[in-house]
Amino acid sequence: MRILVTGSTGQLGTALLSQLRDCNYQVKITSRRKPESMEDFNWVYSDLLSGEGLDEAVKDVDVIIHAATSPTKKSEAIELTGFGNFLSKAQHIQHFIYPSIVGIEDIPFKYYRLKYEAERLLKNSNIPYTIARATQFHSFVENLLLSKPLFNRYVIPGKVKFQSVDVGEYAGYLTDLVNKGPQGKAGDFCGPEILTLKEMAELKIKINNEKNNVLSIPLAGKLYSSLIEGKNTNSMEKIGEITFEEYLRSKLID
Ligand SMILES: NC(=O)c1ccc[n+]([C@@H]2O[C@H](COP(=O)([O-])OP(=O)(O)OC[C@H]3O[C@@H](n4cnc5c(N)ncnc54)[C@H](OP(=O)(O)O)[C@@H]3O)[C@@H](O)[C@H]2O)c1
Repeated sequence: MRILVTGSTGQLGTALLSQLRDCNYQVKITSRRKPESMEDFNWVYSDLLSGEGLDEAVKDVDVIIHAATSPTKKSEAIELTGFGNFLSKAQHIQHFIYPSIVGIEDIPFKYYRLKYEAERLLKNSNIPYTIARATQFHSFVENLLLSKPLFNRYVIPGKVKFQSVDVGEYAGYLTDLVNKGPQGKAGDFCGPEILTLKEMAELKIKINNEKNNVLSIPLAGKLYSSLIEGKNTNSMEKIGEITFEEYLRSKLID
């Protein structure tokens, strides 16, 4: 089996490369920057915005795991126009695996709307696919919302909820899909517990023995309300086993 992993320098891409390092597949990887440790893989430069390198990337490939994304910069041009162009070059692919995000149709956030439209583009193509949605990664929540205390305080919208998941476990789930073949829309891949952001911040303070404390603030708007309601979670699906607490403890050992 010949696999292409896009977005090989990203959070998910890096975890996928760890999973695929000792596999029997022939693995090609692509991104704009060269990943640091890529000895086992054939790296090809490609850019979803300009289209450069995409033909070379999809050539002689059976399965694509598409982990390239751009949530903030030129997101519409990359998530939709660039993605549509990529699909047009991938007509020969036997299985296109598209990582997506739980609850995107119910959360009013531009990047999520683009991902939902991209799911539709893939469904309407003739390419056999799996759409594999996950909840936010532990590392994503920590780096985005809990990395910068202000005067010893995490000033956060403490009531918003996450069911965060370990990116390595999700990468394992995606690589298992290669053997399973196209599933259409797969079940949501979610973390083992739903926590408020305040609870996550308190865990971080306890485990790292920090002097910081938490100031929880309300925010206005539908995005905030949807995250308080937990639209980004799915309590019926708890597949990941590594908790946010275990993720934080594992970082102390590393
Ligand atoms: N983060 C989360 O919590 C989360 C949760 C659930 C699902 N997901 C999904 O998982 C996937 C991967 O997310 P991630 O968090 O791993 O993303 P990420 O860390 O931001 O990585 C994005 C990757 O895309 C590449 N990229 C960016 N712009 C590009 C362009 N113009 N052309 C080609 N490649 C480009 C980047 O590499 P270069 O800059 O080197 O090109 C990088 O390798 C996405 O589909 C995301 O929606 C993420």
